[in-house]
Amino acid sequence: MKQAACILFLVMLAGGLNVSAQKKTIAQRVDSVLRLMTLEEKVGQMNQYNGDWEATGPITKDGDKQNQIRRGMLGSMLNVTGVEHTRQLQQMAMQSRLKIPLLFGQDIIHGYRTTFPIPLAEAASWDIETIRQSARVAGKEAAAAGVHWTFAPMVDIARDPRWGRVMEGAGEDPYLGSLIAAARVKGFQGRHLGDTDAVMACAKHFAAYGAAIGGRDYNSVDMSLRSLWEYYLPPFKAALDAGAATFMNSFNDLNGIPATANSYLLRGVLKGKWKFKGFVVSDWGSVGEMINHGYVKDNYEAARAAAIAGCDMDMESRSYIKNLVTLVKVGKVPLTVVDEAVRRILTKKFEMGLFDDPFRYCNDARAAKEWDNPANLATAKKMAEKSIVLLKNAGGLLPLSRTTKTIALIGPFIKAVRDNLGFWSYEWPDDSSRIVTTWAGVSKKVGDGTTLLYARGCGVTDSSRAGFAGALAAAQNADVVVMQVGEARDMSGEAKSRSSIRLPAVQEDLIKAIQATGKPIVVMINAGRPLIFNWVADNVGAILYTWWLGTTAGDAIADVLFGDYNPSGHLPMSFPRAEGQIPVYYNHFSTGRPAKNDSDLYYVSAYTDLPNDPKFPFGFGLSYTNFSYSDIRLSSAVLRPDQSITATVTVTNTGKMDGEETVQLYIRDLVGSVVRPVRELKGFQQVSLRRGEKKTVSFTIKPDDLRFYNDKLEYKFEPGDFRLYIGGNSRDVREAAFLLKAD
Ligand code: BGC
Repeated sequence: MKQAACILFLVMLAGGLNVSAQKKTIAQRVDSVLRLMTLEEKVGQMNQYNGDWEATGPITKDGDKQNQIRRGMLGSMLNVTGVEHTRQLQQMAMQSRLKIPLLFGQDIIHGYRTTFPIPLAEAASWDIETIRQSARVAGKEAAAAGVHWTFAPMVDIARDPRWGRVMEGAGEDPYLGSLIAAARVKGFQGRHLGDTDAVMACAKHFAAYGAAIGGRDYNSVDMSLRSLWEYYLPPFKAALDAGAATFMNSFNDLNGIPATANSYLLRGVLKGKWKFKGFVVSDWGSVGEMINHGYVKDNYEAARAAAIAGCDMDMESRSYIKNLVTLVKVGKVPLTVVDEAVRRILTKKFEMGLFDDPFRYCNDARAAKEWDNPANLATAKKMAEKSIVLLKNAGGLLPLSRTTKTIALIGPFIKAVRDNLGFWSYEWPDDSSRIVTTWAGVSKKVGDGTTLLYARGCGVTDSSRAGFAGALAAAQNADVVVMQVGEARDMSGEAKSRSSIRLPAVQEDLIKAIQATGKPIVVMINAGRPLIFNWVADNVGAILYTWWLGTTAGDAIADVLFGDYNPSGHLPMSFPRAEGQIPVYYNHFSTGRPAKNDSDLYYVSAYTDLPNDPKFPFGFGLSYTNFSYSDIRLSSAVLRPDQSITATVTVTNTGKMDGEETVQLYIRDLVGSVVRPVRELKGFQQVSLRRGEKKTVSFTIKPDDLRFYNDKLEYKFEPGDFRLYIGGNSRDVREAAFLLKAD
């Protein structure tokens, strides 16, 4: 009893309940807690369980989680949200000997209560500040629901749209991806980690998960270290520099070593070279999955390998909790490894203020304020509008006139509710009254003089054509047809890789049937990935890529359809013509036998049955107005190592509406000690131009912008000739040349 009282006193000192303890640094406070902990309690901190409410993988049912919490055998839980649930579990943790608070983590990928566009759609906005605001809202809503930690952002570069998780990232480009990674981290974490409206971010999946062979989820990754450093690691570094509190390792093996036990990645790069101070959580069960990889023979070995490599917390595989104590006792894992992991985890708990008040994120008033906050919905609508990409607008079919007499709205997604949300979204009981369907959005927009007709036409994938007749009748009675087709929300996402990414045949057939009526057609495509829809692209009048836009989808769509918002999105991934082209990406090498054009097939690097270029290039996106670009003016054609040059263009709005253009800067290093991509995005600026207005847009280029990883993995620039390109996408550009001179 006496001993218990003494421990409690020490805990109070360590935990900050005493005024003098408050003055200690976090490092000192962490050390005082660590000194009190048994080995079992330390290992408990490295253990994370699912809350059993939602799961993305098999849940281990054995064991008594509540008991383990009371015994201090658990550091964190995932998928537990809501003030009530988190409070209940935290109260259990407060019954443990040392009263170390639990961390509650959750996948808040594109919103919590308010669903935002899927991350790939947001990336299409190229609007870094609005993306930050989107993550800010998600962070605020989650933090108000008792969540401390989001497993986001996913910063995996992806060149393969067969991979279902492309929907969760920022696309194929490391420069754009890095800016977005940093913005999302800043948004989630707010002004300061520990503010009650901020959640810890988690940069995932470290590393190269997006390069799964064949686009098949969880598959192996085999790549050169140069590619890793040049294309796949930069967004992780950007997330770290923006202050990401945690990292998650990926499921895949990288060049034969599972990322979970990859000491090159975790200790060498992340904690070593990059000096990351936060902690690393495994992916769901990935410690135990190393047995399936064939990397270890059992969970005992798995725990050893992962802990030694620097994975600090085991998500749901129970390998740590079952084996680490013994591993330390028999000397197979040094105690210092465990201490280091626990120190990292406790540091974050202190930084989040949880030792001072374990219930500070469980606040009913804040939860109520965020629950239906109109400001959050307004941010979501702004984000949704900016995410829409206009791919085609023949004859200026869009925007539609509000005085159109009859509009037929046709397709499986016109009245869709939850299919607007996307894979990583939460379902709330009142969704049907909150989520704005396209039908509802358009109905609000048009006046009494317009009649709206509706026909579903067909399902998403089932092959029945029974609804075609009704759809044709609606089309025949309309002045214009607006169709919404694409993927249901569970067709892209984790474990949703597809070998065919074509628009489902039944939907394409429906469009063909409607097209045969001769009515003007606008097609909107909902999807979590680039789809292939060549016939549609070549035949219908107007195409809007509408992804999965979230709670306010229908309002954003209506604004764009009727011109209240002039579309400004640009593709963050190349859209292939056929699966056989994949991976198709803009920053490829030239090869020794580049094709001069599509008909150049004579022993060149080309497909004999398909052009090399994608259907829609990276960076592509139209507006209801037109922009013209002047030639590029360079401040000097020579760049010296300690200097910079400026490239300037004049962009003119030559169309009939005000609009916004994303002016993109690409550079090519013509000769390198390792070959360089034909184009690399190095900057972009978004400019609003009123009808008829012109603006000059300037980019500063410094030698540092020309660095790359050479064959020794040194990050250097090399003197020589460069090409510089400026335009509205990666294909249609103006060109200039400059020379980087050695001093
Ligand atoms: C996913 C992670 C996610 C985790 C927890 C895994 O299956 O790969 O991205 O954070 O589940 O839900």
